[in-house]
Formats: sequence, structure tokens, C-alpha cells
Amino acid sequence: MNNKDTFITDLAVILKEHLTEEQIESVIEIPKDSSMGDLAFPAFQLAKVMRKAPHLIANDIAASLSSNHYAQIEAVGPYVNVKLIRSEASTQIIKHIFEAQNHYGENNLGQDGNMIIDMSSPNIAKPMSMGHLRSTVIGNAIANLASKSHYNPIKINYLGDWGTQFGKLIVAYQLWGDPKVVEQNPVTELVRLYVHFHEVAIEQPELEEQARQVFLRLEQGDEELLSLWKWFREESLKEFQRIYELLDVSFDSYNGEAFFNDKMDPVIEELNEKGLTEESEGATIVDLDEYDLPPALIKKSDGATLYVTRDLAAAKYRYEKYDFDKAIYVVGNEQRVHFQQLKAVLGKMGYDWAQDIIHVPFGLITKDGKKLSTRKGDVVLLEDVLNEAIELALEQIEAKNPDLKDKEQVARQVGVGAVIFHDLKNERINSFDFNLDEIVRFEGETGPYVQYSYARAMRVLRLADMDVTSFDYQLQDDYSWEIIKKLSQYGSTIERAMREYEPSVIAKYVLQLSQLFNKFYANVRILEKDDQLPARLALVKATSIVIKDALALLGVHAPHEM
Ligand code: ARG
Repeated sequence: MNNKDTFITDLAVILKEHLTEEQIESVIEIPKDSSMGDLAFPAFQLAKVMRKAPHLIANDIAASLSSNHYAQIEAVGPYVNVKLIRSEASTQIIKHIFEAQNHYGENNLGQDGNMIIDMSSPNIAKPMSMGHLRSTVIGNAIANLASKSHYNPIKINYLGDWGTQFGKLIVAYQLWGDPKVVEQNPVTELVRLYVHFHEVAIEQPELEEQARQVFLRLEQGDEELLSLWKWFREESLKEFQRIYELLDVSFDSYNGEAFFNDKMDPVIEELNEKGLTEESEGATIVDLDEYDLPPALIKKSDGATLYVTRDLAAAKYRYEKYDFDKAIYVVGNEQRVHFQQLKAVLGKMGYDWAQDIIHVPFGLITKDGKKLSTRKGDVVLLEDVLNEAIELALEQIEAKNPDLKDKEQVARQVGVGAVIFHDLKNERINSFDFNLDEIVRFEGETGPYVQYSYARAMRVLRLADMDVTSFDYQLQDDYSWEIIKKLSQYGSTIERAMREYEPSVIAKYVLQLSQLFNKFYANVRILEKDDQLPARLALVKATSIVIKDALALLGVHAPHEM
């Protein structure tokens, strides 16, 4: 329990006839200028309920709370201002962090319910794009936030391993492919074949028809085609796995689109039985006019199923298997309508859990102002981007700390961490352009800057070489007080990030914490041998625990030295 909570509880006791704890919490402000106090409760809302002037209410509240062990409380106009007693507040918060360790900041939003996270989900026989990187790292951070909020996260990689493109790929392979070349460089070769197919199909449109036929035979279970498909899938997956290892992300399931191939007929039947389907130009659709959405295309005129059909089957399967409280889909904003349709159709089918399906969209990544595309073969390979980031990190380590042990490993954590952090620090819905040199810098609003702050804290603790479990905290300076206040906000920050599915809230928080720590480091002689040394070290240690934990939430490692 921190001081803000104590204040809220105290207020709730005297205001219980007028406002709930939640209402109180939602109006409490943290004044920008600390001289105005540390917390402020405005009485405007109460004035309406109590039909009394706000400044009079503020006066009454201040009088009945009076000042106590943790704070000085006074009325200033319509506000009740709270000035926390620094030594008391600081001791409490630091004790709390030491006791809780990596449980510090937890909440119980999830109440042990299951949260499905559909994430990453790259397409077989195509390179993993920057968009899939976004989905992977945002999804992973949401899964970490979920654990911290007492949800049980289930990470599902819904591989794009089915669809008409496999008809094209198989035709291309049968015409121009060579197994040895595919084995050497699977994704590159499969993309080459796919691109070549489109080039040739401009001159020979009959290839398109051939590909449609091949895909239909594949859907019907043709042995030879299936084994080709399986092989493409395995080879691609091996390449993806290398990237997941670099990112240190794992999944609980790889059930992709193909897994639902035999689970679609029952869904289509159910749709028919419930009278939801219509024929339209030979195709089967579900009309969604009442939702102001285009109709959901369930089956093409040639009988082939579609993306939304597979997603319907997948959603039902997941609900039956996991009985989820929330099903999160971390997928680019360009698929917004698709997920609206998915929810709408499930709603029409009468499933009330449709409301627990949540699309968590994100913006596009461009490199040097250009959109990345795979169709024309003009791609930025994610693995190359990550490896280049690692190289840049290594260069900086060589320049700054050439004697560092495990240089390669640290460079990996810093390079990859830089890319992840950059992805997560902007609100996810925003599009952004990236420039590796800026991302991997050790200064500025970067992942390496935060990691560097952590390593700096660890170095101070190593140099001090002193046990800091017991201390009497009497620090009064503004530098440490700003840190303490920030540390006390960790829990509410996590809650907000979880409610909004917004990892950037954590990234911004840990950047600010690092900045405050570096100010403290620059202005206070931490290692001075006076009687406040243990208190200062305790603050450094508490800060390091929270920086490390926040980075871990984002999926970024915190090396001890760099
Ligand atoms: N494979 C798809 C793509 O790359 C993303 C799949 C997202 N998940 C889903 N359940 N539809 O566009």
C-alpha cells in the first residue's frame, strides 16, 4: 500500500456517502509543480453532489483529515493538497520494493482468468516483415503485462499457412523450382518463385486458374500437394524460429490457419442453420448491414474458404479449449474491418463472448519513408535489421568499454533491445519511420539509454559493496524525492498499460525513471561515506529493481555491465 492509496482510503472513509474509492482515485491529481504538494484532490465534483462551495468542502476535508504520520494536509482554495512527509513516504516505498522484488507493481485485473494473445502470425513462404515484428513484440509485452496483472496469458502464433497463395506457390515450384535451392535458402527462394509467378501470370493469365485448381485440390487433401505444403511450412518455420530466438519470444501454440481446415464446415453449417448466410453472385456471405460493415465473405463461388471463415473457426475453437476471459488480436490497423466483421458475425451467432474479442491494432513501419512490401520482392529482412543493430551495439561497446566480458552477448541484448524498445516507445497506433543509427544510440530516448542507466546503478552497488537491507531513510533532497515518487507510481502505470493494451506507457515510464536516476547520479555524491550512504544505496537498489522489471515487461534484457 503506498501513500496515495492511504490518502484515497482516508478520503473514502470521510466521503463514503458521496464518492466511491474509484471516483476519488479518478480525480486525484499529481501537481506538475512539487511546491504545490505531491497529491491534490479537487472538490468540484463533490460541490455538485453536496450543493456546497468547493473551497468550503476542501476546508472541511482538510480539517477532518488533519496532518498525520505520512502527510501534511491543507486546503488551498477548492483543492485539498497533500504534502507527503518525505522520510516516512520514502522508507515505506523502498521497503515495499525490497519485499516484493519482481512482484512489485502487480495488480489483480485478471483474477487468474485466461487471456489469449494472437500475435506475430507471419505468413509461410514469405519473409517476416517489420509488421510481424511489431505484432511479436507488442504481443509479448502484453503477455508480460498480463502475467503481472494475474491473467494467465496464452500466446498463439496463428501462422498464415493456408490460402490461395499456396496454389500459386505450388504451381510455381512445380514449373521452376529446385528442392536443393529451397533447402539452402527457403524463404528467399519461395519468395522468388512467388514473385516470378506473378510476373509470368501477366502474360499467361491461365496460370491463375491453374493455381486456383491446385489450391482446391490441396483443401480437399491431395497427398502429394499436402506434402509439398508441409515441407514449405517446416522450412519457413525454421527461419522464423531464428528470429524468435534473437527476440527471445516463445509461443504456447503454433496452430495456424491450416489447423482449422477441417473445422470450417461445422461453422458454415451452423451459420446456415441459424439462417445467417445468403448467396451473392454464387458466393456465401453474412450480411452485416446493420453494423454498417461490408458483408463477411464466407465461401467463394468456387467453394474455397476465406480468411474470416478460418478466423471464425479459430475463435470458436479457442473459446471451447481455453474458456478465455479476453481474446486479444495484435494485428495491424489495416485489418480493422476484418476484426469488426469477425466480432459482428460471432455476435449474430449468439455468442456473448464476442464482446471479449479485442483487436489491438498498430501502425505501419516505414524505412526511410518507404512502405515495405513483399509482393515486388522489395523487402527489408527482419533478421538483417536485427543483426545490423547488434553490430552497431558492438561498435559502441568497443568504443566505450573495450574490456567488457561477454561483449557479444551484451551486444546482442543491447542491439535487439534497442529495436524492441523503439518499437514499443511510441503509442502503438502511430506509424513510424526507423533509422537504426538513432535507435541504437546510448543517449536520447532509447532502449540502450535505459539499459545503460541500469548498468550504472549496478556499478554503484558493486563499488559500494555494502548490504542495504536495513536503513533509516532521511534523504530530503529533491533528486531522490522525484525518484521515490516515480517508483511509487509503478503499479498504477502497469494497470493503465494493461487496461489500454499499451506497452508504450511502460516504455515512457522507464525512460522517465532513468532520466530522474541520471539526474540524481549527476548531482548527488552517492558513495560519500556519511551516515546517509545506506539510504542512498537503498534508493539506487530500489531503482535498479524497477528499471529491470519494467524492461523485462517490454521483453528487453538488462545487462549488468555494458
Ligand atoms: N497472417 C496474417 C497476416 O500476416 C495475420 C494473422 C492475424 N491473426 C488472425 N487471427 N487473423 O496478415
